[in-house]
Amino acid sequence: MNTPSNLIVAEHPLIAHKLSLMRDKATPSMQFRHLLREVSLLLGYELLRDLPTELRDIETPAGAARVPFLKGKKLTFVPILRAGNGLLDGLLELVPSARVGHIGLYRDPDTLEAVEYYCKLPDDIAERLAVVVDPMLATGHSAVAAISRLKDHGAREVRLVCLLAAPEGIAELARAHPGVRVFTAAVDAHLNDHGYIVPGLGDAGDRMFGTK
Ligand code: URA
Repeated sequence: MNTPSNLIVAEHPLIAHKLSLMRDKATPSMQFRHLLREVSLLLGYELLRDLPTELRDIETPAGAARVPFLKGKKLTFVPILRAGNGLLDGLLELVPSARVGHIGLYRDPDTLEAVEYYCKLPDDIAERLAVVVDPMLATGHSAVAAISRLKDHGAREVRLVCLLAAPEGIAELARAHPGVRVFTAAVDAHLNDHGYIVPGLGDAGDRMFGTK
């Protein structure tokens, strides 16, 4: 598949290794969550590499220096419940002052459409970069619905960070929200009949929490 310009695949041996461990169905939930947090730190590095900075004067123990600090209002992370929470802690470690909104969506098992059951977003989301956080970009329905919700709420700049993406979800997102950049650790082959990513890693929420 050609890589669309709004798709950023964070290729790094550490990410690849950790992702392979996560794909293995023998990896227990405790280790899965730990790996997800570690990968979120590495993905965050790529996701946030162009954050604006400003120079300020400080004193180091050895003298005066003009050094960069993050500029402007910090961003908003918006995990899609429940699996999005698995990537959130690491991202918040990188940007502790970020705001956090939440969107609860479930997949209708028959239509695979996203159904919203919860939404709480910061009021000033228009002034902040909004990052939708969801480990799996599969059909793209949840991501499209979440981003539409953020835009209705005033968000102007939106990105999506995920662990795995399927070509179908990437295409759907590019069609519905062409300006949204997607940051992922890998792009897998395709979806199965149930809308799961193949080879994927199964249901990310179930893998995190040990449910079925
Ligand atoms: N959601 C998941 O958790 N896994 C998939 O493969 C697709 C959607």
